[in-house]
Amino acid sequence: MTASGTRPTLTVHPLAAGSVSRKISGAVVCPPDKSITHRSVMFAAMAKGASVIENPLMGADCRATMAAFRALGATITHDAAAGVVRVESPGMDGWSSPLLPLDFANSGTTARLLAGIFAAIPGLFVTCYGDASLSKRPMGRVVEPLRAIGAKIYGRQNGHLLPLAIEGQKLAPKAHVVDKASAQVKSAILLAGLNVSGETKVTLPVGGRDHTEKMLAALGAQITTKRVGGGEEITVTGPFRPQAGRFRVPGDPSSAAFFSVYAALAGGKLEIQNVLENPTRTGFMTVLERMGVRLTRSQPKREHGLLEPVTTLSIESDGKPVRGVDTEPELAPTMIDEIPILAVLAAFASGPSRFRGLSELRVKESDRLAKTLELLLLAGADAKVDGDDLVVAGGLTRARAFRYDPDEDHRLCMAAAVLAKLADGPCEVQDPDCVAVSFPGFFDVLNSLG
Ligand code: S3P
Repeated sequence: MTASGTRPTLTVHPLAAGSVSRKISGAVVCPPDKSITHRSVMFAAMAKGASVIENPLMGADCRATMAAFRALGATITHDAAAGVVRVESPGMDGWSSPLLPLDFANSGTTARLLAGIFAAIPGLFVTCYGDASLSKRPMGRVVEPLRAIGAKIYGRQNGHLLPLAIEGQKLAPKAHVVDKASAQVKSAILLAGLNVSGETKVTLPVGGRDHTEKMLAALGAQITTKRVGGGEEITVTGPFRPQAGRFRVPGDPSSAAFFSVYAALAGGKLEIQNVLENPTRTGFMTVLERMGVRLTRSQPKREHGLLEPVTTLSIESDGKPVRGVDTEPELAPTMIDEIPILAVLAAFASGPSRFRGLSELRVKESDRLAKTLELLLLAGADAKVDGDDLVVAGGLTRARAFRYDPDEDHRLCMAAAVLAKLADGPCEVQDPDCVAVSFPGFFDVLNSLG
């Protein structure tokens, strides 16, 4: 790594051009899931007593969640040798107001879900802030529904932006109608509902990742989910206190997506083990299959106390161009974090692709719609944003060498690194350390594959 000005820059060397077959081979174990690690820490900290989280993701986002609960009185330790995090908590009724503001760093999941939990605890007072990226991201989407049931939340731009101050209150039951396909918004409301007497109902226009619901059901909460048209309606009845116990985290499909696309483009055979198999998360697998990637998934298994099943993904590719694809808006929430890397694959497809309904991509760790487009254009691809759709022409055979600033957005950084492997010269990617948000060992794995 070199420092360009004050900012670190990584030079990524491409795979040799020429014959594209059998460039990479091997087997990798999928890193642990970020969303499920966050929620495991949250439920363990809400429970009174000792819990163990097996195979946790120790990425920066999940560390922010752990640090927050330490500040409220939980003891949380990482036993790296055993591959577990141990949580000893006084439980949510025993938390004390932290003396200092909580630093949520880059983590939207921490900010939004903890806002829901804290707002519903009378007597708790929490202030929180984040990094430059998180400070720009919309918090009104959780603050407004929480205020509608009595929450007292103050902050910049009338509480629509961090920093926030949350004064916990007794909240009221309500049927919430959310107009965004956001698992973070739904989860914030449901988690607040655990401390509400009666029914908290959330209706969403499109179903999204459902780990909060699945974990609550497994913990014994009274929770039901109904399909309503293309959307969903979830009802939780409070109050509910989770019990301390064991949580086991499966591999993160969002991380597996980078290597799946790398294998499809470079050619070769790659096995990715322990990948979470949940239809609300595996939209990228559907898309790869539609594009003609030879992808097989082993029979899903629920081993060693896993709540959700895992599969082994095998990708076999001769490196020849795949087909273009047209994805419907309903698929977007199931692959929202995978769009940058799918767009890279689409750039090399034999025909055009259109990814529909990506408005939520504009409010991620960066404006990922604009920044994904920028990456493709820098590499010489033909692409455009059309309303909320990303349109990629396809037909790229070798990317032009590029220098890219991913705006410290981990997923853009990883997508750029994969694209750089297919470029016609060394590429530079700024602030590569940002991958630690969700995938601390990313570059080691990428290099180990060739
Ligand atoms: C997450 C939900 C998604 C996703 C994020 C993690 C979660 O965000 O992009 O990386 O853990 O609930 P939205 O629900 O806001 O789309």
